[in-house]
Amino acid sequence: MHDGRITITQFIIEEQRHIENATGDFTSLLNDIVTACKVISDLVNHGALVGVLGAAGTENVQGEDQKKLDVISNDVFLRSNEWAGHLAAMASEEMEEVYPIPARYPRGKYLLTFDPLDGSSNIDVNVSVGTIFSILRCPGECKTHPSAEAFLQPGTEQVCAGYALYGPSTMLVLTTGNGVNGFTLDQNIGEFILTHPNMTIPEDTGEFAINASNMRFWEAPVKRYVDECLAGSDGPRGRDFNMRWIASMVAEVHRILTRGGIFMYPLDEKMKARGLEGKLRLMYEANPMSFIIEQAGGASSTGRERIMEIKPKDLHQRVPVILGSKHEVERVEAYHKEMDTDAAA
Ligand code: AHG
Ligand code: MN
Ligand code: MN
Repeated sequence: MHDGRITITQFIIEEQRHIENATGDFTSLLNDIVTACKVISDLVNHGALVGVLGAAGTENVQGEDQKKLDVISNDVFLRSNEWAGHLAAMASEEMEEVYPIPARYPRGKYLLTFDPLDGSSNIDVNVSVGTIFSILRCPGECKTHPSAEAFLQPGTEQVCAGYALYGPSTMLVLTTGNGVNGFTLDQNIGEFILTHPNMTIPEDTGEFAINASNMRFWEAPVKRYVDECLAGSDGPRGRDFNMRWIASMVAEVHRILTRGGIFMYPLDEKMKARGLEGKLRLMYEANPMSFIIEQAGGASSTGRERIMEIKPKDLHQRVPVILGSKHEVERVEAYHKEMDTDAAA
């Protein structure tokens, strides 16, 4: 821009310029995603003034109650991204089936997955919420017959992942596998401006985030890690820890990108009893956030394996998530390994 500030569009165009055979499709797709996030940001900002708060009275495929804004944001994402010819199909946390691009529009070479409104239990109490998205390439014949199978690629195959955070300011944080950059929405001109270049996560941390109401259901390694944090300077860690739980993964990940920390939504006995493999969704939450976290120098694991290497079995698959500052995630993984080795002995 004339004042030396860099808009997200300029940033992406300049980044893509170095990529051989780039057609501009990706840049254009990202522009449409950015527009969708601006629309959702506007709705979140206006809240009760535009009648978007409260329950929708419906359930999504995961059996969770939908908020009005879950449904509206999902629709905003579909309408913004279906027409331009860059996508073959979309998949969302809020839709049971894959959404192939309708025949009236051209189909393109990418697939888009998204959690249109993350942390939606916070919307009615005016606490930060967000949007998470991930872009994959459309394999083989997928362009003509986009199916759920086309989406079942490990997180390592992601072309791009990002989130919008609708907080005190609206931010968009993005990776294309070349580091992580954060942009803040300048409401006056309607553009995201590069404000957080090369975001990196400190390897060590003194802050952990977990929903402690599930403590009695946790597996031993998680219990051990949290117990040691809680023991503080009197315990084996020899220092005090701080705790946070916002219940918006986007906001937790953003805090970790800003000042370090570890976030855990682990596997627990309650989930196991219900036949669930975790709470958070691999395709819409865990994979995109893992890509961002790893690109910022952090780590992301189920406790037993690197999340981005999981070969998805199902579009709506859930996984345990332990992510953030590298050394802390490695510590939790080591505790899992110890327990699993002892159990096998
Ligand atoms: P969503 O609103 O998209 O369903 O996601 C909510 C997720 C995540 O953002 C958050 O970390 C977690 O669920 C909160 O779960 P609890 O309510 O169990 O704490
Ligand atoms: Mn979510
Ligand atoms: Mn959601």
